[in-house]
Amino acid sequence: MRSKIPSFIIIPSILSVIMFMYYVIFDNNYIGHPVTISFFITITILLLILDSIEYLIFSRRIKFLTEKEKRKILEENEGNYFFRFYKFIFHDPKKINRGIKKIDHGFDGILELDNKLPMWWLHLFYLTIVFSLIYFISYFFTDFSDPYKEYEMAYKKQLKEIEIYEKKIPQVTIENASFEEKLIDNGKVLFEENCSTCHQSDGSGNIGPNLTDDYWINIVEKDLFKNIFSIIWNGSKNNPTMRAFGQSGEIKGNDIQKISSYVYFINTKLKKPMKSKEPQGKKIMNWNLFIK
Ligand code: HEC
Repeated sequence: MRSKIPSFIIIPSILSVIMFMYYVIFDNNYIGHPVTISFFITITILLLILDSIEYLIFSRRIKFLTEKEKRKILEENEGNYFFRFYKFIFHDPKKINRGIKKIDHGFDGILELDNKLPMWWLHLFYLTIVFSLIYFISYFFTDFSDPYKEYEMAYKKQLKEIEIYEKKIPQVTIENASFEEKLIDNGKVLFEENCSTCHQSDGSGNIGPNLTDDYWINIVEKDLFKNIFSIIWNGSKNNPTMRAFGQSGEIKGNDIQKISSYVYFINTKLKKPMKSKEPQGKKIMNWNLFIK
């Protein structure tokens, strides 16, 4: 006979299961795609047609039943669905278990009863089985909730957000650049990536001069930190091998501030390296007093 679940519940339920499976298989990639939308519209129409066919069959069949059977079916389907559902799920347990026989192996006066399980419990149990089946298939045969893939996606998203953020925040320029101790570690990493081929990781010099001594070829600013920043930004006027990292856009102002902080740190605060390139340029001990 006709299912007692009304179509306004059964159609959305089937639809959401299909949508879920669709999401599991295709991820978010095609959700807004016209093909997807027409697919779901078609499914909805098909479900509506199926539902009306089912209703037609029901009303034809009911014609051939006896009065008593007819009344019974109509009674069963009468009233608010939710109320009927509530009554079904929370049957009075005393009522359904009336007349249940005792199982014949009690000990010490303790009797075992063959009680029926409450409907809500039983149906929750079935639901967990269905859920685990769907989850099992999704987990092992698709990418759904695969921790590695989720990690990769989150990682990429994060990188993109950082990129957008970096683009938005104002970049440091020579005017407001200053030495900051907390940038040293970051600067060290950037220095190793961009500068160590010519200056060594410890700044002791290779193709480029030793950056840890007090001898300077390029003296363009009064302040040591600004001098470093300016050279990285503008490159060397005398020697194009030291290129203009800032001007060309190869390194952004904020990163140049980090690198400059690191160079300033190894020049003024760190112990000098054991081996370094011979001095080049002029010796300058007191930068602030030096006027170019
Ligand atoms: C391709 C090699 C090369 C790379 C890469 C390079 N430099 Fe240089 N650098 C040089 C040379 C060569 C000089 C000397 C320029 C001159 O004679 O005026 C120099 C000079 C300098 C000076 C000035 C030294 C002085 O005595 O005037 C600083 C500071 C400096 N580099 C920092 C850096 C930093 C920081 C980086 C990384 C962002 C970097 N360099 C990358 C080759 C390089």
